[in-house]
Amino acid sequence: MKIRKAVITAAGWGTRFLPATKAQPKEMLPLLNKPIIQYAVEEAIASDIEQIVIITAMGKHSVEDHFDRSFELEHVLQEKGMSDALEEVSSIGNSSKICYVRQREQLGLGHAVLTVQDFVGNEPFALLLPDDVVRSEVPVTRQLIKAFEQRRSSILAIEEVPEERVSSYGIIKPRQLNGRLYQVLGMVEKPDACRAPSRLGIVGRYVLTPEIFPALEQTLPGKGGEIQLTDGLSNLLPDQQIFGYKFEGIRYDVGTPLGLLKASLAFALEDPKMAGELREYLTGLNLYAHPTSVSLDAKDLARLSVS
Ligand code: G1P
Repeated sequence: MKIRKAVITAAGWGTRFLPATKAQPKEMLPLLNKPIIQYAVEEAIASDIEQIVIITAMGKHSVEDHFDRSFELEHVLQEKGMSDALEEVSSIGNSSKICYVRQREQLGLGHAVLTVQDFVGNEPFALLLPDDVVRSEVPVTRQLIKAFEQRRSSILAIEEVPEERVSSYGIIKPRQLNGRLYQVLGMVEKPDACRAPSRLGIVGRYVLTPEIFPALEQTLPGKGGEIQLTDGLSNLLPDQQIFGYKFEGIRYDVGTPLGLLKASLAFALEDPKMAGELREYLTGLNLYAHPTSVSLDAKDLARLSVS
């Protein structure tokens, strides 16, 4: 069955960005000139997804406004002859594929996923967490869909994480099958590094079968008192195989101010309009600190930003 639907979560409090997120959603913070959530929406569309549901919560109206038409703004841009900006703004608003579901209580990622059960129905779907932005030749969601088409089972994006970051991720117990594909034998949400079954962490991209919904309904609060998607997937394991896919691409964790800063630098160094001046600026800083060091390029910064 084709993966037609994608779910994007945008219901969190954004506490790591306070006070910036006191009166605006963290998903609307910019990575260069686009809000973080737009990267996830564009990735879903580039992966041939036909319908998107964004899970929002109180105070997230600007997310809906962002993906809506703004006739006044479009009119002003047209009058001013700002055709590039007009094109950009109207194409975002033309995306009629997006609808919204509100998560009334923030009881965890697993609980958020349960709120879209009616929208998804009885078919497999993609799940994207906008805190993870992935740069890759083939959109990472499309990579997972391809793996799903071969295995017909849930597929989790995975990557090796440094030992000191293991406790920030769902971690799988893997059995390597071939190339990038691993069978998931077990998984645990945010374990202490000494108890972790591996260093393969789950990144915020999934293709899930609809059986995740009954599994989540049976899932008790876990880490942090929240209903965890990782626990729901563990509950599903006795009945269904689950696979991890080591995706191709570089992931940026934009869920913290430092991660967003690193991603912003790496993205700007790839942008022809900004790269030259930024590189000059960074080289200047670098020379000031270490007179003999060489200038930074995009690859250096991309490497730095993998968390
Ligand atoms: C969530 C998941 C976790 C996963 C992570 C990826 O955690 O619960 O299993 O590894 O996303 O970013 P969060 O970062 O939302 O706390």
